[in-house]
Amino acid sequence: MFGSKEKVRYAVVGGGQISQQAFMPGIARTHNSVLTALVTGDPVKAEDLAKAYGIKAWSYDDYGALLNSGEIDAVYIATPNALHTPYVIAALEAGIHVLLEKPAAASLADAEQILALQQRSKAKLMIAYRLHHEPGTVEMVTRAHNGDFGDLRAFTATFAQNVAEANSRGHNGYWGGPVPDMGTYPLNAVRNLFGEEPVWVHAIGTKTPGRGFNFDDTVAVTLRFPGDRLAQFTVSYATAPAERFTLIGTKATIEASPCFMFGPKVGISYTETTAEGSKVHKFDPVEQFGNETQYFSDCILQDRQPEADAEEGYLDMRVLDAVERSLQTGDAVTLEPRSRDRRIDADQALHLKPAKEPTKEKLISVVPQSA
Ligand SMILES: NC(=O)c1ccc[n+]([C@@H]2O[C@H](COP(=O)([O-])OP(=O)(O)OC[C@H]3O[C@@H](n4cnc5c(N)ncnc54)[C@H](OP(=O)(O)O)[C@@H]3O)[C@@H](O)[C@H]2O)c1
Repeated sequence: MFGSKEKVRYAVVGGGQISQQAFMPGIARTHNSVLTALVTGDPVKAEDLAKAYGIKAWSYDDYGALLNSGEIDAVYIATPNALHTPYVIAALEAGIHVLLEKPAAASLADAEQILALQQRSKAKLMIAYRLHHEPGTVEMVTRAHNGDFGDLRAFTATFAQNVAEANSRGHNGYWGGPVPDMGTYPLNAVRNLFGEEPVWVHAIGTKTPGRGFNFDDTVAVTLRFPGDRLAQFTVSYATAPAERFTLIGTKATIEASPCFMFGPKVGISYTETTAEGSKVHKFDPVEQFGNETQYFSDCILQDRQPEADAEEGYLDMRVLDAVERSLQTGDAVTLEPRSRDRRIDADQALHLKPAKEPTKEKLISVVPQSA
């Protein structure tokens, strides 16, 4: 049990780009969480990151010992997608809380296993959907649910970047590719904006000439939701950067950009257009990784179920899985109707100031994402 002044002690599992660039600096902005340990296979990271943050480094072989050491309360799992599951399972079985990077796993079977285990574990699990605590996103979702934009009819989005084939994303098949990695953002956004789960999925993909990815590097997905609402998104690993979405309602259209990224200079922004004209809504950059960690730690300290729980991650995963099947066969995939009780609440928005990110040169043994 936690005392009233205690902080949740986190171990980072996987000292890659997102851990070094964002999570490790960001946690210092919170009032209720502290970085205590790093699990890494890299002796230089073990030495240098442990020293820089005043924490202890552990090897993957000693992960079980760390979970039972009494030195941590929670893990932040930021390994490549295909390697999340064993670290999640071991942590939940040891009663250690899990903040899990998106997508939850790299197969639907793994996501089902994580969901089942969370439901019987005393430990809590949250998918690291940082935008669920970003004020602009929370406002758009809340206003969509309040009917400010009328009856929501359609959503369209693009999210793209120029990824290096050498990055772990570039050579690990569909589950390292642009749909699970980047498509999760528009998918999670539209599920939450509509407040519905899709019932029909179709996808078409292409490989860009001259690029060496072992999967479709550019994919267009179409979704049908209950009430004949439609959504489309296109993601790519092989183009100039792009991030935007348009949500079309019967009273208003909103166009958001930037809408998916993070960083000390990234403030989410949207333009609302009605018959009367247009209005821009701009939001200051916030510490998105600190925000999600502070929220999760509050859930742990106050024994509350986090909103972005294993079910939220699973509901994205079942669509990502359907996209993979549609790409394989060329056919549309029908999904069982599903509903979800929880959605993003207005009070989930947090306003921690962005932490300073280390420069690219300071990141240790990171294979850069961008080509
Ligand atoms: N929320 C967001 O905005 C966001 C952004 C980017 C990524 N992500 C997610 O965060 C996770 C990590 O992404 P990343 O960009 O940080 O990836 P990355 O740079 O490739 O780092 C992954 C780290 O995992 C560890 N690892 C353990 N076993 C490994 C293995 N067999 N092969 C390669 N690495 C192994 C390594 O750390 P050690 O050397 O320390 O062992 C590696 O540096 C992914 O799930 C991704 O989807 C989230």
